[in-house]
Amino acid sequence: VARKAFTVGIACEGKMKEADYVGIVSGRDVDKFAVAGLTPIKSELVDAPYAHEFPMVLECRLLHTLELGIHTQFIGEIVDVKVDQSALGEDGLPDILKIKPLVYDTAHKGYHAVGPLLGKAFSVGKEWL
Ligand SMILES: Cc1cc2nc3c(=O)[nH]c(=O)nc-3n(C[C@H](O)[C@H](O)[C@H](O)COP(=O)(O)O)c2cc1C
Repeated sequence: VARKAFTVGIACEGKMKEADYVGIVSGRDVDKFAVAGLTPIKSELVDAPYAHEFPMVLECRLLHTLELGIHTQFIGEIVDVKVDQSALGEDGLPDILKIKPLVYDTAHKGYHAVGPLLGKAFSVGKEWL
């Protein structure tokens, strides 16, 4: 909050244990990057680190902090999106099937994989236009 910056690392299938671990412990108590074997990289754009091992990262400038009862919501401006070269598609855009992001099921506390493409957005619903 003091640095008015944060980063969002997209956790992937290959780093599930690492992502879970850094969500369990606090950086106040332990150097959780070191324990999980993650490499902290200092962002050149915002005053916050990100983990080198996650395939996609959003670097954000903190714009608003909203107190919502038991939760605090942080709203940021994304100033850059970094994606591993290996996670880009032939069109040069991030490929969700290469990134293999984790999908979190809050009801059962489970991590799931992303499945195949089901349909084209802004297209499959046009039947009822
Ligand atoms: C599966 C999972 C989901 C979590 N979801 C949230 C969440 O939605 N919001 C939140 O504030 N913390 C969530 N946490 C807990 C935070 O990750 C945890 O408070 C954080 O690791 C504290 O780290 P820090 O003190 O270094 O910031 C989640 C943790 C796990 C393992």
